[in-house]
Amino acid sequence: MPRIIYEIQEKYISSFAENDDELILSIEEYAKQNSVPILDKNASQFLELIIKSYQPKRVLEIGTAIGYSSIKIARSLDKKGILHTIEISENNIQLANENILKSGLSKKIKIFKGEAKEIIPDLKKKYNLIFLDADKEDYLELLELSIPKLKNNGIIIVDNLLWHGWVAKTRVIKKYKRSTEFIREFNNIFMNHPKLFATILTIGDGIGIAVKKKND
Ligand SMILES: C[S@@+](CC[C@H](N)C(=O)[O-])C[C@H]1O[C@@H](n2cnc3c(N)ncnc32)[C@H](O)[C@@H]1O
Repeated sequence: MPRIIYEIQEKYISSFAENDDELILSIEEYAKQNSVPILDKNASQFLELIIKSYQPKRVLEIGTAIGYSSIKIARSLDKKGILHTIEISENNIQLANENILKSGLSKKIKIFKGEAKEIIPDLKKKYNLIFLDADKEDYLELLELSIPKLKNNGIIIVDNLLWHGWVAKTRVIKKYKRSTEFIREFNNIFMNHPKLFATILTIGDGIGIAVKKKND
């Protein structure tokens, strides 16, 4: 497996986040034991930093899984901030609900159940920040559906844009070929999108971050 940064530096940075609370540590452990893909620890630190500094009033997350990043986002919002999060898996929704209840953040988080491609067009009000973390083959469509739901100067954050390092490699193993192609195509559009000013950071599995240009 290629890497984005060396393991030793990654572990060094993560070591500063070891004082996370028991709930967060237990979700991380559950995800590890049950192969649930959740946001990398360093990437989640970055996401929290953006939320704490930008203080968005309305956040949309696409891909709740078991509520790990939802809890991290919601706990970083200010008093009036709210999170809407979309998830298709019934099993994940149940676990996310349990974790969110334990976090005491139920009032700030609303889970929308179902296919994000069907739910997003029906969302009424725009968002200050959108976090996209769903199936990679859906990324392009979800990006195009999300942009009209983002306020001018709003931020969009996308996970996995370096895809374990594969996107930058000339040779890709069979298992990752298809998904790597999806991410490469997505990155080309994301980085050159006329409505966005975007970059990709070497945090976690590669975090894309973009701001929506004014008057688009
Ligand atoms: C990578 S996980 C999300 C991890 C989560 N953001 C975290 O860091 O804790 C992706 C989740 O998105 C859900 N998902 C994928 N594609 C989706 C879609 N098109 N609509 C709704 N949910 C989707 C999957 O069921 C999965 O639980």
